[in-house]
Amino acid sequence: MSKQQPGKPYNFSRQVLKWFKTHGRKHLPWQINRTPYRVWVSEIMLQQTQVATVIPYYERFMSRFPDVESLAKASQDEVLQLWTGLGYYARGRNLHKCAQMISTQCNGIFPASVDELEQLPGIGRSTAGAIISLAFKQRAAILDGNVKRVLARFHAVEGWPGKTSVSKELWAIAEEYTPTNHIADYTQAMMDLGAMVCTRSKPQCSACPLQTHCIAFKQSTPTNYPTKKPKKALPIKHTQFLILQNDAGHILLEQRPSVGIWGGLWSFPEIAINEDINSFCEKHFGRVIDHRVKPNFRHTFSHYHLDITPAYITIEQTHNMIADNNQQQWLPHQQWETYGLPAPVKKLLDAL
Ligand code: ADE
Repeated sequence: MSKQQPGKPYNFSRQVLKWFKTHGRKHLPWQINRTPYRVWVSEIMLQQTQVATVIPYYERFMSRFPDVESLAKASQDEVLQLWTGLGYYARGRNLHKCAQMISTQCNGIFPASVDELEQLPGIGRSTAGAIISLAFKQRAAILDGNVKRVLARFHAVEGWPGKTSVSKELWAIAEEYTPTNHIADYTQAMMDLGAMVCTRSKPQCSACPLQTHCIAFKQSTPTNYPTKKPKKALPIKHTQFLILQNDAGHILLEQRPSVGIWGGLWSFPEIAINEDINSFCEKHFGRVIDHRVKPNFRHTFSHYHLDITPAYITIEQTHNMIADNNQQQWLPHQQWETYGLPAPVKKLLDAL
């Protein structure tokens, strides 16, 4: 651990950069052949998602869409298909919209300032700062979840970072420490420090380059920071998935509206938990030959739990009540693999 020299102010970024040289991550896929496009896609995928989860998705995405033009030209279905399982699908939809805006409004050239990037869908201040510093190597601060944790502990900042006043304070600290030189390494170092050393529940303070001046460490209470969000019990909603199989053994999927939960993804028809399966199916799909209701399971979103009851229904399509159309498709086994699917839908289909 390096000691501060007498009479010299503490040099935060120097400590961080020195640590990065030996311990930082330098071979992540988006650090190789670094372009604004590659950095941007990685930063969007890494919002709310860990590096290890992102890597295979990132590799597949890059081989299918190697540049902003190929992404702009793709259909939303194809983009969402590559996003299946990654969650937070609005990120995928925004990424696609954003590529189209860059292609048509900016001649395919990425805006090179935080202010301009922030105008684009799905890019907030921290993501814009990451793109500017990592890809353009210009000075810009970031404040993602990992960095918030490092700074909140270093200064023992009280209060939940979702509160405007706390967020303002943390941004001011982030801006103050952001150096002019070696900006890309510094940005990566702060993310790495948060992900690898200053972790949420078991920080490894003995390995931290900031230990000597960290107030939370001095208080022996690093895990008290950042202050947790005031807990509210998540509401519970219920739904029934109708897993319909027709005479040909095909399964019915329908595309959800483009806004809202799982927007644009393909899912099973749903009915309310107290609605009668037989009469609903006979009205919309055909004669019910057999139906089995399986135990429900829970899928949790950031703002509610969804308890899902899967109902497996075999129907005879006497009047061919629904033919394929843009929103509903009868699909033979495995053909759904090319569709964007919510994780629980994929799981149920895989188990068929
Ligand atoms: N999280 C967000 N951006 C990241 C990056 N560039 N490397 C590792 N983790 C990240």
